[in-house]
Parts: sequence; structure tokens; C-alpha cells
Amino acid sequence: MEHQAHIVLGISGSLRKKSSNTLLLSSIKGMMPAGTEFRIYQGLATLPHFNPELDGDEAESHEAVREWREQLRAADAIVICTPEYARGVPGSLKNALDWVVSSGEFMSMPTAVISASPHPDGGASALQSLTMTLKMMSATIPEETSLAVPFVSRMIGPNGSVTDQKTLTALLTLVNALSQAILEK
Ligand code: FNR
Repeated sequence: MEHQAHIVLGISGSLRKKSSNTLLLSSIKGMMPAGTEFRIYQGLATLPHFNPELDGDEAESHEAVREWREQLRAADAIVICTPEYARGVPGSLKNALDWVVSSGEFMSMPTAVISASPHPDGGASALQSLTMTLKMMSATIPEETSLAVPFVSRMIGPNGSVTDQKTLTALLTLVNALSQAILEK
């Protein structure tokens, strides 16, 4: 039987071009097991504001909403890497998640959650809030796939790759746990 490649979808909670969270997410690509396709979702800024009145049958007539849900449905696992804004999840990321509460794409989905911040607690409040939202949506979040990265600006080298050994080890542990969760799905 032919081996089917797994698809992991990365979602950055930052829209900044030089985002440290997007750089962290990109660094995970090379850690994935052979045969895994790692994609990064690019549509966060194109999603309309969530409105329950636009949800339901009509929602997917909006191209950005359809594409967002299709990318999630095609994935075997998700990695979200996000900054913390005002002790919470950035609005654009929460907006994207609100669009898939009813449609259920996160149900039983192996999901890794990372927050990264220049602050000492690594955006722990956003991580906690994001985890609560995803658990409410019945995502599968094994303990080892949850990570807060403090002092993120010191962890990334001038070429944009992660240089800190402790962070690299933690990311590798996270990737291994996520890969295991895919196999157990
Ligand atoms: C922040 N930042 C921040 N950091 C943090 O640890 N806790 C917080 O509550 C906030 N709040 C906050 C609000 C707003 C409006 C901004 C713009 C920033 C700092 C934030 O962690 C920092 O800018 C990160 O570098 C953002 O991540 P990216 O864009 O580099 O991925």
C-alpha cells in the first residue's frame, strides 16, 4: 500500500512581516519527520469579521472562509504559534478560530500551541486562553505540544533561524509529540 504523506498546517498569530512567531513556525518545518508536508496558512488577514448571522450554509460562499476551512480539513495536525496582545490572543487569530467553532474542523485534531514573546513569561496568558478555546472546540492537545517561549528575540539569530539550544530541544520534543498524536488519531 502506498504511504500517504501527512500534512501539518502552521498558523502564525502575527501579521508582521518580520514576526518572531512566524520565524519560529518556519523553523519547525525542518524538524518534521520525512514525508510530512508542512504548510503555513497565509489567509488570516483576508478573513471577514466573524458574524454568527453569516455562519452556517452561507459562510463558505465567502472565499476566504471556504479556503480557511478547506486548509484545516486537509490537515492531519495543526501548529499555532502566536504572540500575546494585552494578555490575550491577537484578535485576528481569535477571529479565525471563531469561524470554525460551529463547522468543527478542530474536533479531535492533534494541535500544538506555542506562544512567543520578548517578555519573561513568553505570552503564557495568551497560551492559556488559546488552549481553553481549542479545548472547547475539542482539539487534541497533548501536554508536550504546549510551549511558551520567553525572551524570543534572543532565541533567533540574524538569519531568522532559532539559535538557542534549549528552545530547539523544546520545539523538537513538541514536533515528536505531535507526530505521535497523528499516528494515534
Ligand atoms: C504586545 N506585546 C505583548 N507581549 C506580551 O508578552 N504580553 C502582552 O500582553 C503584550 N501585549 C502587546 C500588545 C500589543 C498591541 C503589541 C503590538 C505587542 C509584545 C509582543 O509580544 C511583541 O511585539 C512580539 O514580538 C510580537 O510577536 P511577533 O509579531 O514578533 O510574532
